[in-house]
Amino acid sequence: MEVVIAAEDTIGDLVADEIAELLEGRPDAVLGLATGSSPLRIYDAVAARVGRGETSLARARAFTLDEYVGLAPGHPCSYRTVIDHDFVSRVDFAPGAVRGPDGNAPDLFAECRAYDAAIASAGGVDLQILGIGTDGHIAFNEPGSSFASRTRVKTLAAQTRIDNARFFEGDVEAVPTHCLTQGLGTIMEARHIVLVATGAGKAEAVHQLVEGAVSARWPATILQHHARVTVLVDDVAAARLRLADYYRHAYAQRHLVR
Ligand code: GLP
Repeated sequence: MEVVIAAEDTIGDLVADEIAELLEGRPDAVLGLATGSSPLRIYDAVAARVGRGETSLARARAFTLDEYVGLAPGHPCSYRTVIDHDFVSRVDFAPGAVRGPDGNAPDLFAECRAYDAAIASAGGVDLQILGIGTDGHIAFNEPGSSFASRTRVKTLAAQTRIDNARFFEGDVEAVPTHCLTQGLGTIMEARHIVLVATGAGKAEAVHQLVEGAVSARWPATILQHHARVTVLVDDVAAARLRLADYYRHAYAQRHLVR
């Protein structure tokens, strides 16, 4: 796991550099897209590069991580609407190149199986963008999620509904109770995982993710078992990292081995 402690306003460009490099070598790369506020800075930076003609997603495909169950299509809080607004509409993906799980599918279990199959038939995800919840969830894999889990229906934790109520005009009751989410096992198959976390509210989750015991209590700790994970955090999200000095030193020295 590579831990990069960086100024918040540089994180978007650092990840956009990785994405641009991937697309240069592989224009038909498969991206994994996360919703939430954390990835916005990445999407802004990639959209700016596409706007300047420096990179293109015209041949790329993408899969989103998760979706609420039961929000009407086009609902402003539906993750499909959010990712279209925050990213897809601002770049040059081909029509139909971005897919997400359908939280209104008549058979949610069949939809989950079909979603995993679609990711596999696309050749798997080359670069997966992730945020992290304050309780250590990734996508909507709440504490207690199986490390082997596949895309499935989950019940949202009370804390996640409280955290996400800000997108529903502060009304916790308006936040759906269920979701579809890629499983931890699904996410772990991505070839490179880039997790972004900023703000003091993420400090404990980041500490557990990087330095805690691997446990379903903090689902993101499964990433310690992935061979290529980059964690980008600002100073406040890094505040509880015991080995922060080492991570800063290793990052400053990276040019010596690349
Ligand atoms: C939601 C999403 C996660 C996201 C998390 C944190 O629960 N399902 O994918 O990582 O929120 O969001 P934010 O980045 O807004 O803090």
